[in-house]
Amino acid sequence: MTRAVGVGLLGLGTVGSAVARAMGERGEGLSASAGRDLRLVRAAVRDASKTRDLPVEVTANAFDVLDDPDVDVVVEVIGGHRPAIDLHLAAFERGKHVVTANKEVVAKEWRALHEAARGAKRELRFEAAVAAAVPVVAAARALGAARVRTIRGLLNGTTTYICSRMEAGASFDDALREAQAAGYAEADPSADVDGWDPAYKLSILISLAEGRWHDPAAVSRTSLRGVTTAAMNDAAGRGMRIRYIATAEFGQKGTTARVAPEEVEAASLEGQATGPTNVVRFDTDLAGVLTFMGPGAGGDATASAILGDVIQIARGMR
Ligand SMILES: NC(=O)c1ccc[n+]([C@@H]2O[C@H](COP(=O)([O-])OP(=O)(O)OC[C@H]3O[C@@H](n4cnc5c(N)ncnc54)[C@H](OP(=O)(O)O)[C@@H]3O)[C@@H](O)[C@H]2O)c1
Repeated sequence: MTRAVGVGLLGLGTVGSAVARAMGERGEGLSASAGRDLRLVRAAVRDASKTRDLPVEVTANAFDVLDDPDVDVVVEVIGGHRPAIDLHLAAFERGKHVVTANKEVVAKEWRALHEAARGAKRELRFEAAVAAAVPVVAAARALGAARVRTIRGLLNGTTTYICSRMEAGASFDDALREAQAAGYAEADPSADVDGWDPAYKLSILISLAEGRWHDPAAVSRTSLRGVTTAAMNDAAGRGMRIRYIATAEFGQKGTTARVAPEEVEAASLEGQATGPTNVVRFDTDLAGVLTFMGPGAGGDATASAILGDVIQIARGMR
């Protein structure tokens, strides 16, 4: 009988615990999709003494997961640059496949990660790293034959929420505090409001469209912090709204990418979005304009993309 495909989790926070719960609750369906059994082997966390009530054995040592011979696929949902990059490389060295939702490590370490995966003849998959449940990584790959002219949209739910609260009269500081209280923004909100998070995501989509690494540091970023309620009201008077828009333009002379507060039509998909909804438009020559919209954050939405990647890997395993 074919051996089960073993999954090891690095991280059991918002996303990792949603993956563990989904694997516990819908094991049969996942295994049917994958064409073979999927088994959650164990999970690594920072603090193993926390009460979690999840159907998985927990360790405080990530190498317990990486060194476990029953683990075939390592799912990294710790986030950040380090130690994530070291754990990804260690996973490939041990012949594991890697699935991640970590946009920062994929955007910054694109070359090292792809090289390590190639060298190990294993897969690196990261659908969840851009727009969570919305399959824009798959879309960017599928557009390989077309020339992409622009990629544009909303890639960060926290800033969309802040913009929508400011439209309702809140100051930037109050809207940010509300976003933190609602669990949208990090305690250190810089990744969201200063544009790093959407810049990482945009650079991943550009790298896929161009087939080579686009350094996220080359994405120009204008902070949302400078936007005032007066500017919001002025835009509203003209049927417009301000949203934190990520744009990549692919020209003959090169690619330019930016993240900045911009005016959009109030009635547009971007203008109508008020929270974690992401919108991504690809304008291409062969395929016309493709628009994707859906939940770009949240544990379950992100777990959906991660498990989709795990299923793809399991289908390809002999
Ligand atoms: N949240 C979302 O909606 C969302 C959406 C798309 C993508 N993502 C991405 O998914 C990743 C995870 O996000 P999250 O919201 O789930 O983060 P989170 O809630 O902060 O969880 C992080 C987890 O990593 C564990 N951890 C931290 N350092 C570790 C270490 N050195 N070794 C082992 N485990 C360690 C933590 O352990 P403890 O539990 O012991 O603290 C925690 O379980 C990030 O890259 C994020 O950008 C998140």
